[in-house]
Amino acid sequence: MSSAEVAVKVFRDLENEDFRVLNVIEAAMSKHEFVPKEVITKYAKFNIEETEFRINRLLKMRLIRGRRTPYVGYTLNYAGYDCLAINALVKAEVLESFGKPLGVGKESDVYDALNPKGERIAVKFHRLGRISFRQTIRKRGYTLRHTHWLYQSRLAAEKEFQALNIVYPKRVAVPKPISQNRHVIAMGMIEGAELAEWKEIPKPQKILKEILRNIRITYCKAGVIHADLSEYNILLKPNLKVLIIDWPQYVKKDHPNAQQLLTRDVKNILKFFKRKHGLKVKLKEALDYVTGKARTLSFQ
Ligand SMILES: Nc1ncnc2c1ncn2[C@@H]1O[C@H](COP(=O)(O)OP(=O)(O)OP(=O)(O)O)[C@@H](O)[C@H]1O
Ligand SMILES: [Mg+2]
Repeated sequence: MSSAEVAVKVFRDLENEDFRVLNVIEAAMSKHEFVPKEVITKYAKFNIEETEFRINRLLKMRLIRGRRTPYVGYTLNYAGYDCLAINALVKAEVLESFGKPLGVGKESDVYDALNPKGERIAVKFHRLGRISFRQTIRKRGYTLRHTHWLYQSRLAAEKEFQALNIVYPKRVAVPKPISQNRHVIAMGMIEGAELAEWKEIPKPQKILKEILRNIRITYCKAGVIHADLSEYNILLKPNLKVLIIDWPQYVKKDHPNAQQLLTRDVKNILKFFKRKHGLKVKLKEALDYVTGKARTLSFQ
């Protein structure tokens, strides 16, 4: 079971006192990798029995994890962090209930969900920094706080939400940004499948043009580069409109590597259409078009 599945399953059973303990652990994790039991008792303002009762419930639900040495302490699991974010989105009346997973991967879990009006939304849980953060600290001299999965995942969600808020008003074809809390974003739900999943793409030339037109608006009007563009991050809807997803790595036009990243994005797309559909478009021509140097794009 993925951690989002755990969270979605147990969320409704959680009581206010459980959230209090989760909140205290979250807050104290900026100081302690494992939060001492006494700290939890103190800040939750519970007696020892209540604290132990709550901790045992949360352990059983797999929302937290414990350690016995050098002292008894507890830390959030991803599922515990998921519950805190879900709770905030439910309270903000953004989210009402979960449907099925839309995509479960290494760096995110995306769920189909409903808002209180019964409209479908997509909820993306970011998962970052799970591997060997101690090593990263040693190598890069980061502080514990900045390499922690809690921080990294929240940062990814914040960045993705920021990007959507910059490009969506410029009419770039992206999901509508709705809300963000911690490592989770809520956005418009899209019916469609990744370009890479389509066995055959109808009207490939038209679709390639549409993608390049979107890269052009993103760059020229929003001043942004996606920086992780490929056939896996473009959804093709049943009506053959495209949507560009997965924006946490975006950079602004004035980023030192902007041109390199833009070139890589465009190259990835051209390579895909060449391999799969034999469409040949010169890189220079595509780059002139997306950067606004050329007004139109003509396929030879
Ligand atoms: N707004 C959305 N509406 C519908 N489906 C979506 C939406 N956003 C994402 N998905 C689905 O979830 C999948 C993963 O989303 P995304 O590319 O944003 O995450 P990722 O970080 O690449 O995750 P992974 O580690 O799984 O590759 C997408 O391929 C798509 O199938
Ligand atoms: Mg992706």
